[in-house]
Amino acid sequence: MAGSSNVPHRTSLPEGVRVGTVMRIRGVVPDNASRFHVNLLCDQEGAEAALHFNPRLDESVVVFNTKERGAWGQEERGHGLPFQRGQPFEVLLIATEEGFKAVVGDAEYHHFRYRLPPGRVRVAEVGGDLQLQSLKIF
Ligand code: GAL
Repeated sequence: MAGSSNVPHRTSLPEGVRVGTVMRIRGVVPDNASRFHVNLLCDQEGAEAALHFNPRLDESVVVFNTKERGAWGQEERGHGLPFQRGQPFEVLLIATEEGFKAVVGDAEYHHFRYRLPPGRVRVAEVGGDLQLQSLKIF
């Protein structure tokens, strides 16, 4: 698919994620996108994910979940879809005391409570149908 040649992209987080860590993802949703994701993985193989953030243009929803020992947990879904095909976006995933707060554009979208400790995160992975412009960890 045009525009997806720069993903999957992986950034290692050797010290994990702490309260106050901000992960900023900037990109563009391709015209024909169906889904993309940001995974905060606890291992290189991806058997454990403290966060799976999964905008689904094909279902008009954003799914949040965890993966433990290879198995998906219970999905949470945000309200509405703050992404549009053909449009640029900015997502902030902010580690708070309680969970990962997802901010899309200038609005808080969903606060996903921790199921796995953020300190266990080792890899931030971005993939699927998007053109990634930048992934920065602050
Ligand atoms: C599945 C989907 C996975 C992942 C998971 C999250 O249905 O195939 O890619 O998004 O849901 O719960």
